[in-house]
This record gives sequence, C-alpha cells and structure tokens, in this order.
Amino acid sequence: MEKNKNLFIYNVKQLVTPLGKKGVSGAPMNQLHVIEDAAIIISDGIIREIGTTQALKERVKTYGDIELIDANNHIALPGFVDSHTHFVFSGERSEEYSWRLQGESYMDIHKKGGGILNTVRSTRDSSYEQLLECGIERLNAAMAQGITSMEGKSGYGLDWPTELKQLNIMNQLNAIHPITVIPTYMAAHSMPPDYTGTKDDYIQELIEKQLPIVASEKLAHFCDVFCEEGVFSVEQSRRLLQSAQNLGMDIKLHADEVVDTGAAGLAAELNARSADHLLMASKSNLEKMQKANVIATLLPVTAFSLGEPYPDVNYMQQMNMTIALGTDFNPGSSYSHNIPFLIALATRHMGMSIESVITALTLNGAAALGLSEEIGSIEIGKRADLVLHDCPNYKHLAYHMAHNHVSKVIKDGFVIYSIESALHNHKKNELDPIGTVVDSEESKSFSSYEISEFLEETASSNPVPGGGSIAAQSGATAASLVEMVANLTLNRKKYSEVQKDMEEVIVKIRPIRQRLLELIDEDAISYHHVMKAYGLPKETDEQKNKRNVAILESLKDAAATPYEVAQLSQQVLNLAEIVVQKGNSNAITDGIVAAMTARTAILSALYNVKINLGSIVDEVFVKAYEAKIVHMVTVIEAQELSIRKSMNLL
Ligand code: NIG
Ligand code: FE
Repeated sequence: MEKNKNLFIYNVKQLVTPLGKKGVSGAPMNQLHVIEDAAIIISDGIIREIGTTQALKERVKTYGDIELIDANNHIALPGFVDSHTHFVFSGERSEEYSWRLQGESYMDIHKKGGGILNTVRSTRDSSYEQLLECGIERLNAAMAQGITSMEGKSGYGLDWPTELKQLNIMNQLNAIHPITVIPTYMAAHSMPPDYTGTKDDYIQELIEKQLPIVASEKLAHFCDVFCEEGVFSVEQSRRLLQSAQNLGMDIKLHADEVVDTGAAGLAAELNARSADHLLMASKSNLEKMQKANVIATLLPVTAFSLGEPYPDVNYMQQMNMTIALGTDFNPGSSYSHNIPFLIALATRHMGMSIESVITALTLNGAAALGLSEEIGSIEIGKRADLVLHDCPNYKHLAYHMAHNHVSKVIKDGFVIYSIESALHNHKKNELDPIGTVVDSEESKSFSSYEISEFLEETASSNPVPGGGSIAAQSGATAASLVEMVANLTLNRKKYSEVQKDMEEVIVKIRPIRQRLLELIDEDAISYHHVMKAYGLPKETDEQKNKRNVAILESLKDAAATPYEVAQLSQQVLNLAEIVVQKGNSNAITDGIVAAMTARTAILSALYNVKINLGSIVDEVFVKAYEAKIVHMVTVIEAQELSIRKSMNLL
C-alpha cells in the first residue's frame, strides 16, 4: 500500500481537543485539552507527535522528507463526526416545510402519504448514478463544514433493491470519497406504501430476507429503526434489533422523537450503541440509558425544524450521560448539515457550553459510531483527521455565531479541503470549462446495440467503444452468467437447501448488471469529455487555465467511471463464488467462466483507471486511487484462482 507522506502542521494558535479513546460523560465533557502555539507531526496518516511549534521544529528533522503546512495562527480541532444522517436520497420537500411552518404536524403529513414516503418515491425512481452524484455533492458540502466522518442511513427504499442501492452507494462513497462513510441499515423507517401485509409481517420479512444479507455481506455497521407511535412499536423494534444483534450487528434507535413510547428504555434494555432524538424521552428511561452506557445522540436542528422543544440536556449532563450531537441531515425533518448553525442552537437553545458541544461533535460522535479508539480527538496514535478554523480561539465557534470558520480539512494526513482552493475553483467553475452540450457522437447508446453491431463498432477506427466499455460489458456478461447458474439451481429438489442463497444472488446481481450496462455508455462519454477538454483553445493565459481545469476534471471523471466498473465487477466475482460453491453442479463451468470474465472486467477497468491517473495533476486523488487499485488486484486475483480450483482443468 502506498504510504502517505509526512506532514508538519505548525503555527497553530490553539490546538483544542477532548482526550481519550471512549465517549466522555457529564461534567468532563466541558474539559478540553488546549495547547497554545501548537504543532503536529503526522506520518502514514497517523498523528505521531504533538507539542509547541518551538519544540517540534527540532523533531521534524528526524522525519526526512516532510510537507510543511503553516497554519497561519488558525486554531486546530478534531474533524467533526456527524453520527446521524440520512444523506443518500433524491427529491425535496419544500412544500411540506411550508405546511409545517403554518402549523401542520410532521406526523400528520406522514400519515397522509407525504413525509418519508414522498422521498421514498423519488429515491426509488433515481438511478444508482444520480444518487451517487447527490451523495458526492453532499459529502463535499459536509467536508467544507469540517466533517471528516459521517454516518448515513438507508430507509428511503423500503424495498430490497432500493435499500441495497442506498447501502451500496454508501459503501462506494466510503471507498472513493475522502470522508469516512459509515452505513446504517434502516429499512424499518416506515411501512412501504405498496406493502399488503401487516407491520409484523414486514418486520419478519426484514429479519428473514434482508438482515442476513446485510450482515453477512457487511453492507452496514448498524441497524436502526424508527420506534415511534404510528410507525414501529417497541415490540416490533425489539424483534428486529435483537435479530440484528444476533447476526453480530451493532444497533441504534430513533427513539421518542415525537411521542414517549418507551423507546429509550428499549435502547437501554438492548444495550444499543446510541438512542437518537430523545425529545420526549422520560427521565426514568434516560436513567436506564445512562446505566446501560447508551449514548444519547441529540439532533438540535431537527427539534428546531419541527418546532418541538429541545431535549433536556441539562438533566442528561447532570445524570452523567454521554451526549453526542448530529445533524440528522434529511429532506424532511432536518434539511441542513450546517454545523455552525447546529452549534448556535446547541449553545443558545439547549444550554450546552461550547466545550461540551465540541466534545459531543468529535469524540462522542466517534463513540456513537464505535470509532473513538481511532478518531474523535487529536492525540498521538489516532488517525490524522483534523480541521483548521480561522478564528482567534475556540470560543468563537459559538460567539461568532452560525459562521463557518473552516479553513483547511485534513483527513488521514491528506489536505482534502482548503478555503483558498475552494474559492479559486469556484471562480474557475464560472468559466464552465467543458460545457454541457452533448453532441450526436456522445449520445450513442452502445448498450442497446445488437451484438454483431456492437462488435462491428468496436472494431472500427472510432476509438469508442474501447477498452473501458469492454470492461463494463465483460462485467455485465459475467453477471448474466452468474444469474443463469442461480436460475438453474432454483426450484430443484436436489438443491433445496440453497434456495434462499440463490434467491439472494438473483436479487443482488440484477441491479449490478443494469448499472454495468449503463457504464458501457458512460465510459464512452467520459472519453469524449477528455477529448473535448484537450481540444479547447490555449492561446491566452486565461484560455490555458480554463483548458487545464477542464482536462483535470474530465480525467478525474474518466478514472472514476472504470473504477466503478471494477467495484461492481468485484461484487459479480463474489456472487460467482457463491454459485460455484452452492449452485447446480452441472453448471459449474458457467460459474467459473463468470468468475474469469469478472476478473478480466476488474483488471481491464483498473488499467483504464491507471492510464488516466498518469495524467492527473492532483496528488491526493492519484495516491488514493493507486492504493485502492493495489489492494483490489491482490484480493481478486487470489479469489479468482481459488474459484477456478473448484474444478480441475488438467
Ligand atoms: O430522523 N424520524 C425519522 N427519520 C428522520 C426523518 C426522515 C424524513 O422525514 O425524511 C428523522 O427525523
Ligand atoms: Fe434521523
């Protein structure tokens, strides 16, 4: 694996951090560790030394090649950890917010088919690509707020293909975006609009059909449920969450957000990682949570947006509870991931001190994700996730209210955001370097060609479809073969024990094949964009700049497309392994051919990523991809070989 270079951040006016590897409770939440005129040495993405600038200047010499970052007297805090969001969705609900401003309640809108179900409709209708793009935009916006890790929930599908799509997207975002994304499975967010059975039936279906796949494929870290009057009862939530725990998953609850149903008590009973919202939770249940060490995740923006009273944080702190803060970013009850706004509400309306807010947004947020050993504070041995804020001291985060002070974001030792380049890019974007005009050459849909026509077009001197499209096409072909073996195994007495496995394979492989098919064309489009960018005029300095930006952006796209092909084909390879091991033995060669084709698809796609990386002048981007490529190649080559060994060739 490629190593990060060494980094020396110095001239930090104030380094401010909670301390420890666990969440902090009660009064100690107010105790921050502060170093004036500080410096930090980072290598391989890990914090190695912390001290004053004066002291560390000498130490730096022992690190050899080291990048210097002058913090210019800004202050440094740990990256914010947003431990509760629903950020993968499409559509918007501004109309509903107007109704709410007029006094209509959130639950009444929900009951008449609006609310969550409104977003379910638009999310089901969106393609993988559209949702992925929304996800990237939202992560970029979160990054500019100083967020370096973020949880995200499914629950806008309420049917398996869409729930799976949301989870796959979050896992892909975690792989391709610098922000750490922690996916949560929340199909128990509402009853599906088209479901004919009872709520108990639905919960049972999640337990039997979906949870086992989510757990075994490690698609999500947590299982969450909307335990609320009119949604899912304490009893139904208990059944689902216990099943998740039995499969080794960690659990969270949306608890007592609108009515006190006793959900906070359930969180205590099950030793949940966190119970979230708690606007209406009873004191006795909060006490039980404290005893069971369940983190209280509070979401002030939601209370604000719903016009509900804030949770009783004073009481919680007196009781020594561990409190985390999150945005709950979602299109309904909290359409904002604005951290400065959240800080303003938590300090002024909930009565928290700025010190306890910082602890709640960093170390305790990390604890709410089970990550406090690795992130959440600036300490030796932790991952180098930290943010520079342009203000004289940390109290300005509350005092200079609702103002974003973030000047630089460092994630795993890489600078992933800086305000100077953000402003610069903004200017550059105004120039609209490539434009959005699609010419006829670009709009060709190779994926709908007949095979003979497709091969003819490939053979022609026209460079597309080329190797990238063929990689996607191979992945899609492999997916078809996997599905064939699963179909040949279905409803056969001899294979009665693997029926469920085969059903799962079919459900999973179909959307993958569909997406790979789309990528045949998208790869060709990316190629056209690169060519267009290189063809831009380069006479004047301004033109040169414009052209360079366009080339860089289009090359990044042209690398991201085959990378997605590689990732999806890797999922095809995993499923090929299942059908070779468990499927109809008469079709074993088909499964093996699928595995070999998937391997070819992955390697071909990765070569296409690599070739584009060669021309990209963005070290962070290139390094991140190179590391991922090395890892993927090692894993899949071994896997394909072991699948082939299921049948002896000689
Ligand atoms: O945390 N309460 C349920 N889920 C979200 C809202 C989702 C929505 O309205 O779309 C919440 O408030
Ligand atoms: Fe929520």
